[in-house]
Amino acid sequence: MHHFAYKEGELYCEDVPVSKIAREMGTPLYIYSHATLLRHFRAFDGAFGDVPHITCFAVKSNSNIAVLKLFAGEGGGADIVSGGELYRALSAGIDPGKIVYSGVGKTAEEMAYALRSEILMFNVESSQEIALLNDVAGKMGKRASIAIRVNPDVDPETHPYISTGLKEHKFGIDIEKALEDYRVASGLSHLHVAGVSCHIGSQLTRVSPFVDALRKLNEFVGKLRKKGIPIEYLDLGGGLGITYDKEAPPHPGEYAAALKKELDMEGLTVVLEPGRVIAGNAGILVAKVLYVKRSPQKNFVVIDAAMNDLIRPSLYGSYHDIQPVRRSEQGVLKADVVGPICESTDFMARDRDMAAFEPGDLMAVMSAGAYGFSMASNYNSRPRVPEVMVRKDRYFVIRERETYEDLVRGERIPDFPGGHKSVISNQ
Ligand code: LLP
Repeated sequence: MHHFAYKEGELYCEDVPVSKIAREMGTPLYIYSHATLLRHFRAFDGAFGDVPHITCFAVKSNSNIAVLKLFAGEGGGADIVSGGELYRALSAGIDPGKIVYSGVGKTAEEMAYALRSEILMFNVESSQEIALLNDVAGKMGKRASIAIRVNPDVDPETHPYISTGLKEHKFGIDIEKALEDYRVASGLSHLHVAGVSCHIGSQLTRVSPFVDALRKLNEFVGKLRKKGIPIEYLDLGGGLGITYDKEAPPHPGEYAAALKKELDMEGLTVVLEPGRVIAGNAGILVAKVLYVKRSPQKNFVVIDAAMNDLIRPSLYGSYHDIQPVRRSEQGVLKADVVGPICESTDFMARDRDMAAFEPGDLMAVMSAGAYGFSMASNYNSRPRVPEVMVRKDRYFVIRERETYEDLVRGERIPDFPGGHKSVISNQ
């Protein structure tokens, strides 16, 4: 359920016409619905009810600090994977005591920053990372709380690029081998073993892989406790899918109910790291149609947004629904929706039946609130687009459109001795 709907043929975000925002802000742009973000956060967090838990929003899915601030206000934490995401989470006022730090490649500097910030725990992913974190914490006179991310070898049945929980993946430590790492870690004086974590993949549309993973974790926590390693946190990662097209993922209520049935251990706080299920359907990308190229073989609707603004279709072949911002009687056109970037993979949709768009029309690319702006780049030297949050009948700019000056900020033309030309003439 989201708050993008038509009123008399006009697409609205909450009580604001999308065309009004596009007119005032220009296109392309991202629009998020405040009510949808809140509703999704509450539905997810509330579904775990009285189970002791922390909902740590996956910052990578939508990292705008205004979005993070909303969840901070709801008592939410953050799942981060870099020093930059930590900076964002702290800037948004997220309680560091509710921040978990995941990822296979944390640097010593990032570890030190997170230790200074007193985050809840590091989800460590290799024996070498365990050793380095112990070292960094030792030098700072601190103790780092850790969970080891175990790889439960469960098939999440999702796109291969976004599955993570099989033995062949770079993520986590094999669940068989992890016992030994726990033994080592619990003997290190600058580490405090606090939990077990896992994340098996993203855009999962069934609960059974989550349940299978949790059963393996339960058994594993049992083994650790028998060895005298007390576990306080069970981090189940994120991954619950959303409807982009015809998928029918479980409601957060069903997901939580299935997990709660399996959670039978005393004294455990559950950590959850949802991203997409909260932000995905709470945002759209709005573009303007520049040209319509018709040919006997194919039609192309050329828009002003491109793969640098939303890379999911190009990278994963993902489906995003295409809707007109103003509905008319124009009929239907089968076309590819493409952007201005010089790559054949620069498309938003392929061979899709859609409204027969004309130049100047506005188009909404739906379900773009997660892994949309956060994966945007400046490829082809395209300034990144603005982000706007709608709350009831008003909208707020939460990130300005980049300028051409922003594009070259930080770049330097070196002052070569003898000038630029001499180097070329010597060769
Ligand atoms: N926790 C960890 C450790 C993760 O790696 C991820 C996502 C999440 C939580 C959040 O997963 P979610 O609830 O959003 O499914 N760019 C891809 C998705 C990559 C997901 C990476 N990890 C896409 O656009 O589909």
